[in-house]
Amino acid sequence: MENMDIKKTILSGVQPSGTLTIGNYLGALRNWAKMQNDYNCYFCVVDLHAITVRQVPAELRQNCLKTLALYLAVGIDPNKNALFLQSHVPAHAELSWVLSCYTMYGELSRMTQFKDKSAKHSDNINAGLFTYPVLMAADILLYQPDLVPVGSDQKQHIELARDIANRFNNVYSETFKIPEPYMPKIGTRIMSLSEPTSKMSKSDSGDGSIFLLDNKDAVIRKIKRAVTDSGSEVRYAEGKDGINNLMSIYSAFTGKTFDEIENEFSGKGYGDFKLAVGETVADALADIQDKYNVFISDKEQLNKILLDGSQKASYTAEKTLRKVYRKVGFYSIK
Ligand code: TYM
Repeated sequence: MENMDIKKTILSGVQPSGTLTIGNYLGALRNWAKMQNDYNCYFCVVDLHAITVRQVPAELRQNCLKTLALYLAVGIDPNKNALFLQSHVPAHAELSWVLSCYTMYGELSRMTQFKDKSAKHSDNINAGLFTYPVLMAADILLYQPDLVPVGSDQKQHIELARDIANRFNNVYSETFKIPEPYMPKIGTRIMSLSEPTSKMSKSDSGDGSIFLLDNKDAVIRKIKRAVTDSGSEVRYAEGKDGINNLMSIYSAFTGKTFDEIENEFSGKGYGDFKLAVGETVADALADIQDKYNVFISDKEQLNKILLDGSQKASYTAEKTLRKVYRKVGFYSIK
């Protein structure tokens, strides 16, 4: 982490609530890998967030390691960045409590992710699901980041984190840096293949999501079956959600513009286009999977990365937490 003081800082995280999708990759991970040389980076696996929805304990443990191995497989360098588990840095939960006293019930009630998740898990609308954005604000504000690279679904949470930080700063003087969301131009919202008006998600058990560990056959099959409209022309247009989504995926993986894609497939049908998208995605994933397989089989190395990462993260997080405790008036014996 050379030049730490002149580089700007970024922080981001993924919930280990299943296998990561190409949405997580295009909306978040890929950009983290691109930004790692220019920023001082903290990349967290947010396991505390994951238990807002019931998890099988053994699977959660395994998913934490799998998520870390995927961070490494997409090229995130553990020597340059702090890679850590949220539950290994107690300051996240501690700051979250303090911030919850500076967050309004009305603000949390307006969060669309809370509304969506409580509709999906109507038998378990727990308090953690409701206060989730406060913990996310703590994740962010502890590291005083300039930018938070995320997909567009997280924008509302980052805006809330900014509001909480401003409120706290106004009461107690400058304490938190006010972070900006950072979103990619293409790939900020990848949609479900089976329901292209909804976001692609880790928890989709059908054929709507392409997971980073899917094999070639599965990728080709899912894209072949992707819902598209009744037309046949490969053209980006209002209302053609399925084709627009496949064009976004193809563009994100190949770097081609929509015009270039339209030219490439002019006179050809959806079938040819879907095959090309399938091949492109499968090839990109094969490369990630080769690397993933090496990382996931070395648990000792993963543990060492987590230990180093949590020490680096704790150092910064503790500094912010101590400042907050002092400002709100907690007595310190030191
Ligand atoms: P999560 O785990 O749902 O997703 C991780 C990242 O992937 C992005 N993403 C997508 N991008 C494009 N298309 C999609 N279909 C898609 N699905 C997910 C998300 O925007 C995110 O960047 N609350 C967060 C995790 C979190 C966090 C944080 C993020 C907790 N604390 C602090 C940043 C900073 C979440 O549930 O992400």
